Formats: sequence, structure tokens, C-alpha cells
Amino acid sequence: MKNAIRNVCAQLLSATGFTLAAGCFSLAAVPAAQAADPVKIGFLVKQAEEPWFQDEWRYAEQAAREKGFSLVKIGVANGEKMMAAIDNLAAQKAQGFVICAPDVKLGMAVERAAKRNNLKVMSVDDQLVDGSGKPIASIPHMGISAYEIGKQVGQGLIEEMKSRGWNVAEVGAMRMAFDQLPTARERTQGALDSLKAAGFPAANIVDAAQAKTDTESAFNAANIALTKQTKFKRWLVFGMNDEAVLGTVRAAEGRGLRSDAVIGIGIGGSKTALNEFAKPSPTGFYGTVLISPKRHGYETSVNMYKWIAENKAPAPLILTTGVLMTRRNQTDVRAEFGL
Ligand code: GLA
Repeated sequence: MKNAIRNVCAQLLSATGFTLAAGCFSLAAVPAAQAADPVKIGFLVKQAEEPWFQDEWRYAEQAAREKGFSLVKIGVANGEKMMAAIDNLAAQKAQGFVICAPDVKLGMAVERAAKRNNLKVMSVDDQLVDGSGKPIASIPHMGISAYEIGKQVGQGLIEEMKSRGWNVAEVGAMRMAFDQLPTARERTQGALDSLKAAGFPAANIVDAAQAKTDTESAFNAANIALTKQTKFKRWLVFGMNDEAVLGTVRAAEGRGLRSDAVIGIGIGGSKTALNEFAKPSPTGFYGTVLISPKRHGYETSVNMYKWIAENKAPAPLILTTGVLMTRRNQTDVRAEFGL
């Protein structure tokens, strides 16, 4: 319908000049969704069981209640489920969706499926890439400022190591890597760079690669790495999220390395981290960089709603920040974040 109006306007513009046509453009700008057309938005996440994504959903629901749209939450653990979910949204007459895809390389498939079904699409957390690995700029994205947040992790590790007076020669640093995901690679690269900038010896840095982004995969990868590395008595631990660090901390505990021998700093700050902080005595999970599930869940949904209902396109790229949170300051930091 809108296209038809635009075509008529274009013809009028060439035939009659600007004044008459100007009215047409305001006509063409009527909201895409009319009152009879209730707004429905999908929120698709790659790992529905992970607390971070549950928090995102919770805040998306808050947005739905406040703005009066319906929210369809779907876990999309693999490409097949993702494609089925997008088609299903269209069948339910949704007008758009926010997605954290199971694999960023599915970017072009996501964009095509959205176009085919006339759905607006935004990505969250993991930015979608095209066939050559370049971010797809036409899909608005909200993610974390991965490299900067990684640097905060590294600085936190160094500071805590210094305040404990550890002898650096005995300390290994474990990078729990998931390098196929750009945001994960940037996060651990940031941490690495700040360790190196602080003079931490490159030879003491050990890489372990997790097969998936959950606690169990990190646990398995850390076990293998720790078996090979017997010369370090103490460890700094970092990775892409809280689960990566928690899995590594658990593997270290299995070898008798406890909170006095391990400093782990994750990224996230939802239940995974809070459960650790709630334990009666500290564990090797020393801290996390708290990021905002509220911005990622609430704000993306509101932006999608405005795009559908008010024809206001979202900003192409928003990168959110984080703050180091430990057992000690958790209440204040969470309050600061409005959580
Ligand atoms: C990725 C990770 C999640 C979380 C988000 C934050 O999607 O897999 O655990 O860290 O980024 O943006």
C-alpha cells in the first residue's frame, strides 16, 4: 500500500512540481501498523537456558507490557530451528524480530528470510556477518563494546593479582577462547592486551578453546589445558562470558586450586555470577564485568516497536558498556545499572 502511494507521489512530483507532492510524502509516512493491526515482535535467542538470555527476555517482556505489543520468545539453538522460527513468526503475523543467532555466519540467511516474510530485523549481542565475514550494516545491531570490556577484565585481574602480592613467575593466565565468534574474540583480545600492557609475561598465557559457549564446554576445555600445564601454581582466568570463566574455575577446583589460587573475571553479571557471589565463602570466580540485559532486552524491543508502529528506524549500531562487579560492590553496581 505504502509503495503504491509512493509511486503515485513520484509521478505527481514529476508532473506537478514539489508543492502538491509534498502532501503525498506525509501521507506515505502513516504508521505501518494501524490500530487493527496489533504489533507482534519476535525475540529469538541462541541459548535460551543461559541466564543472560533469560534476563534479556524478561526485560523484553517489560517493554511489551509497557508499550502494549505481544512478544514471541523462541530459543533457536541451531540454523534449522532459526529458519523455522522466522517463518513461524510470519505465519503468526508478526511484523519484526530481534535476534541473537546461533551462528553469526547465518547473517545473509536471516536477512533473506526477513525480507521474504516482510519482517523487520535487528540483531542483539552477536552481530551478523555476510559471506566474507563483514558485519551486515543494514541490520541494526546492539552489542557490547567487546574489546573495551575485555580490557576491563584484564585490568581487574592484574589489580587483584597485585593486591594479593602474587609472584608473577608462578602465575598462568588462562584464556578460555571461542574465536569463531567475533565478539568473543574481541573480548578475550582486550583482556590479553591489558595483561600484556601491564607487563604480564606472554609465555605464561595459556589458550584453551571451548567447543560451545556454555559452562560445560569451558569445564572440559579447561581440564585438558590444566592437565598439560603443571608448572603454574596460580591462575588468572578470563573468557567471553561468565559461563566460560565459571567452567574454568570449576575445573581448577577439581585440581585443588581454590579461591586463594584462582582469580577469574567473567562478563555478564546475571544469575551465573550472582549465584557464585551468594556462596558462603568466595570461590575462584572473583568478579564479572556487569553488562546490561535491560538495555539489550528492553531497549532493543522498544526500538523494534517504534520501527514498526512509528516508522522510526533504530540506530544502526549501539555498543553498551560494563562495570567491574565483585562480591563486595555487587549491590551498588547493580543498582547503578537499574537492575
Ligand atoms: C554473547 C554471549 C552471551 C552474552 C552476550 C552479551 O551472545 O554468548 O553469553 O555475553 O554475548 O552481549
